[in-house]
Amino acid sequence: MNDISLIEGLKTRRSIRSYLDKPVPDSLIEELLDVVRWAPSSSNNQPWRFVVVRDQQKKENLRGGLRDAVIPFSKHIVEAPVVFVAWYTPSIILKKWQISDVSNAVTYLLLAAHARGLGTCWIGWFSEERVKKTLNLPRNAVVVAVVTAGYTSENPEPRRRKPISDITYRETFDTSW
Ligand SMILES: Cc1cc2nc3c(=O)[nH]c(=O)nc-3n(C[C@H](O)[C@H](O)[C@H](O)COP(=O)(O)O)c2cc1C
Repeated sequence: MNDISLIEGLKTRRSIRSYLDKPVPDSLIEELLDVVRWAPSSSNNQPWRFVVVRDQQKKENLRGGLRDAVIPFSKHIVEAPVVFVAWYTPSIILKKWQISDVSNAVTYLLLAAHARGLGTCWIGWFSEERVKKTLNLPRNAVVVAVVTAGYTSENPEPRRRKPISDITYRETFDTSW
């Protein structure tokens, strides 16, 4: 999957929830984070911060504190060789946009990983309090995403996407595309 074109990469990324037992080196993680730095952000404030977790006990802790019904949605946290936690500290002036900023960075992370042959999954089902405690994050930190990553051991079919006509309007909401 190396050196795929940008458009092809955008269309072929999948959420990967099963990984090979193969370590991901720091050099690769740094290459991905170097790309992430180029994500757009409000007033170029770059509020994104990442904690990279490989420790098994920490991964178990990251997954804790969830209601039973949603635990299956986060099982890959403990199985992935590496987990990124994306968070920010709210600023008074820019807080309206900072979730968007960090989301942009997370999307860049997923896509850069894909371009380098790693599978990822954005996990929204986590206990923010549990994650903050496990990682010693500041009290006012906002956790945006937990991202699992590793060499892929599955090749899922694309999930269905809505057609353009369902998501687009001409000029105003009352005229479909
Ligand atoms: C904000 C957000 C939260 C998500 N939370 C979870 C999650 O908790 N667990 C999970 O397995 N996948 C999660 N996903 C992945 C979505 O299920 C996935 O992106 C969607 O089904 C489309 O599949 P695809 O990424 O393979 O195209 C999340 C994705 C986003 C963007």
